[in-house]
Amino acid sequence: MIKHFIDINSLSKKEIFEIIDLAIMFKKAKKDEAIPQILKGKSLAMIFELPSSRTRVSFENAMTLLGGHALYLKPGEIHLGSREILEDTSKVLSRLCDGIFMRAWEHNSIIELSNHATVPVFNGLSDYNHPTQALADVMTIIENIDKDIKDIDLTFIGDRTNVCNSLLNISMKLGMGFKQIGPKKYHMKKEVIEEAVKANPKYKKSILITDNMKYIKGTDIIYTDLWWWIDQEVEKEIRKNAFMDKYQVNIEKLNKTKNPNIKFMHCLPANREMEVTSEVLDGENSLAFMQTENRLYIQMALLSHYMYQQKQLSSDETIKKHKEDIYDQLKRMTKI
Ligand code: CP
Repeated sequence: MIKHFIDINSLSKKEIFEIIDLAIMFKKAKKDEAIPQILKGKSLAMIFELPSSRTRVSFENAMTLLGGHALYLKPGEIHLGSREILEDTSKVLSRLCDGIFMRAWEHNSIIELSNHATVPVFNGLSDYNHPTQALADVMTIIENIDKDIKDIDLTFIGDRTNVCNSLLNISMKLGMGFKQIGPKKYHMKKEVIEEAVKANPKYKKSILITDNMKYIKGTDIIYTDLWWWIDQEVEKEIRKNAFMDKYQVNIEKLNKTKNPNIKFMHCLPANREMEVTSEVLDGENSLAFMQTENRLYIQMALLSHYMYQQKQLSSDETIKKHKEDIYDQLKRMTKI
């Protein structure tokens, strides 16, 4: 049975920590330039319906570092969407590649892709979630906050983005306190909260969704994300008015936490001087660029874990036999 990586909710707490532990090993191995070529000869087809900097570069580099390679496939430049339906693209890529990545407008597209795939599917962001981001974020938290994860409180300030959803999911899995502070209109959807709670009901009490900034006090992490996404540009002025200034993360907000060790996090890209000031983003409390770096190691852990399961380890004898057969045939064909 093929395992896909689509949602944090499908992982156990143990699996989350195992993936993060593996990512930390890859981080150390990279520093020593000693990464095992686990995915030698393997390929990952990457479908991007939306633009990406961090996710694209980290997945592509992860494949290269593991000995494989990635193919950047954009609808409009492949047949998907105009001459070929997703089901057929999924079947085709499953025959040609060893894994399929998709960044999709609609979460259902990733589900449909996985329903027809015979190789592992990786979710690289949808309108519902961004699970690879959440794993890199928790890895960054573990590296930088010297507390048990169950004693950490994360406050997400802003819009109910896909990143916000995945952070709630991972908080519920690990028992981390989770708050969303923002205007009521942009609070997380009831069904998303219910789904996260269903995955681990015992942590239900550690969620707070509010518009009141006073709940920032005592938190360990302030996290924020863009106030508008690519398809929300038309709502730019409405959204800006709803969030500014009350929900902008600036030095005053960090001070309001009364936590001298407060950390700031952002998945990036950031709209500087909107949801966060440059002073905070570039400041000593910021983990934002470390989060980006850790995306690489989390992708390496995910790719090697999910694709390694598919890998058929051949014996030296089998490799020798194929090599002889192929070279013999080539010699016959070129009449050497
Ligand atoms: N955080 C993140 O997913 O960034 P990209 O959109 O650049 O991939």
